[in-house]
Amino acid sequence: MRRLFSALILLAFFFSLHSCYYDNVEELYPQAPACDTTNVTYSVTVWPIIENNCTSCHNAGFPSGNVSLSNYDEIVAAVKNGSLLGTIRHENGWSPMPKGGGKLADCDIKKIETWINAGTPNN
Ligand code: HEC
Repeated sequence: MRRLFSALILLAFFFSLHSCYYDNVEELYPQAPACDTTNVTYSVTVWPIIENNCTSCHNAGFPSGNVSLSNYDEIVAAVKNGSLLGTIRHENGWSPMPKGGGKLADCDIKKIETWINAGTPNN
């Protein structure tokens, strides 16, 4: 009887150990989740980033710094003169954007770069 009792205690102990085991995503995969730059398009990827972070200050009626980014042609013009990447990457010589806000997420910047490297398709 005593033996059975200690066996049960032991069993309970092992079960308690088992329940302490946990999968913590950050510990298992310490790197940031990969940035998916496949299927980047103007309409689904780039425009929403610009619309959410830039057009409040850069639209036809309110073009801060004389820059409007409210449509494809205006955005491509900012790509061509270097100001789009210069400002969002916070490069020297450009006013860092979005103004007064934090830098865009690295992954968002990568997606915009991917679109630019593909030749700024209007897709
Ligand atoms: C809160 C308002 C605000 C937001 C949001 C904002 N901008 Fe600006 N932006 C400005 C102002 C004001 C200027 C004029 C220059 C200055 O004051 O720094 C400017 C200037 C610029 C210029 C010209 C910079 C130069 O050095 O010639 C570009 C390009 C630009 N912004 C792009 C962007 C992009 C891209 C975003 C979104 C990622 C963005 N801005 C978000 C206010 C804003």
